[in-house]
Amino acid sequence: MALHVVILAAGQGTRMQSKRSKVLHPLGGQPLIGHVVQVAHQLQAAAVHVVIAPGQADLETYLKAQSVQLVYQKHPQGTGDALAAALPQIPDDAHILVLYGDTPLLTVKTLQNISLKQSLALLTTDIPHPFGYGRIVREHDQILGIVEEKDATPEQKTITEVNTGILQAPAHSLKNWISRLNTDNSQGEYYLTDIVGLAVQDQISVVNISVDNCEEVQGINTRSQLAMAERILQKKRAESLLEQGVSLADPTRLDVRGSVQCGRDVFVDINVIFEGSNTLGEDVYIGAGCIVKNCTLGAGTVVHPYSVLEGVACGKDVSIGPFARLRPETRLADATKVGNFVEIKNTQLGAGSKANHLAYLGDAVVGHSCNIGAGVITCNYDGVDKHQTQIDDDVFVGSDVQLVAPVHLHSGVTIGAGATITKDVPENTLALSRIKQRHVEQWQRPTKSKNAK
Ligand code: UD1
Ligand code: CA
Repeated sequence: MALHVVILAAGQGTRMQSKRSKVLHPLGGQPLIGHVVQVAHQLQAAAVHVVIAPGQADLETYLKAQSVQLVYQKHPQGTGDALAAALPQIPDDAHILVLYGDTPLLTVKTLQNISLKQSLALLTTDIPHPFGYGRIVREHDQILGIVEEKDATPEQKTITEVNTGILQAPAHSLKNWISRLNTDNSQGEYYLTDIVGLAVQDQISVVNISVDNCEEVQGINTRSQLAMAERILQKKRAESLLEQGVSLADPTRLDVRGSVQCGRDVFVDINVIFEGSNTLGEDVYIGAGCIVKNCTLGAGTVVHPYSVLEGVACGKDVSIGPFARLRPETRLADATKVGNFVEIKNTQLGAGSKANHLAYLGDAVVGHSCNIGAGVITCNYDGVDKHQTQIDDDVFVGSDVQLVAPVHLHSGVTIGAGATITKDVPENTLALSRIKQRHVEQWQRPTKSKNAK
């Protein structure tokens, strides 16, 4: 039996008060709809259809890269009308699972429980504060229908059993019910939820699968609900790291906006943000307030507090920060050290090399066992082009040196403090470029005149 998933995402999302399509707002570093598409693919569906409204250019661009079938709902007139737009693409003998683009926390396990049923199956849950949700109306335990918040009587509003919006049914039944919907309701829309009443009329069984954890089916209509969903997701991600053997100073003060793979005994201090895809070796230590994006850090590496790392690959036992800024294409070999207020971009540091204080290394290749002094700057940009600085093994660059690229320091070179190096320096040479110090004896400092305020 073929399963077709239809994700509804053509709503205006007006309650977000945003220029952006609602389902593109990020949750855990990924658009809301990205989470839904991901679970849909995990269900091994024959096809995943996403219903969007014309003119949602940002959403269209995003979805075109997600292996889904785009369906356009010309003039959005409710959830029933949205599903109707996708039906012509789906064979009668298929099963249809309807998901919402704004319900991103669903798990594959829950969806497997509801898929491929002969009856109309609804995913429901109990919510202490059901405001905004469609209520499940029952008589003698039998489901009779769903009534929307805006159409509910005061008595119906007290029902805490709600519709999550997720449902499944055989395609031929859905096609029949959808063709019979009308807009006789307070919002003048075609409600998908009205198919429940039609199934009851047709004496087709309506079953419900109840989700115990209502957090999983939280729909996102407002920024406040988005913020709540973010906390739910982050709690889950923190728990999964703890299970992998990572120590978290405070699981509520870590945000993973992407993924982190960790070896054993990694420690993460408070207020750390991981973005993109990261891999941390055993015993890596991430200090407070660090931002780590798309990095691979070798075993035993210590990132001291308040360092910002993006696109870094480092070997074992590297020491970074505090207050280091490492930009894309930073490659640090084993036992290197990068200290406070050092910025590095597109640069390799060979094993054991150090840049401990206040330096900028851009477009440089540095050999092993080098020392880069405080205030050293690679002048890599001439206003038009970038140029490379090459530093071979065992080079000592004194403090406050400018290396005007392209320039090559051969192995064993020493550069005296304060130099501006514009020419290549041959092996084992000391290079100095500094005006001679002179003294003016008995120098009188200027004094303030008496009339000055
Ligand atoms: C809907 C359900 C409600 C349920 C709640 C769960 C209906 C009538 N109501 O209400 O019973 O408790 O979800 O979160 O179905 N959409 C379209 N085209 C449209 C309208 C909406 O594609 O014309 C999409 C939206 O982008 C969204 C989803 O359908 O992803 C739900 O629409 P929304 O307006 O948020 O419905 P709710 O009022 O939340
Ligand atoms: Ca909604």
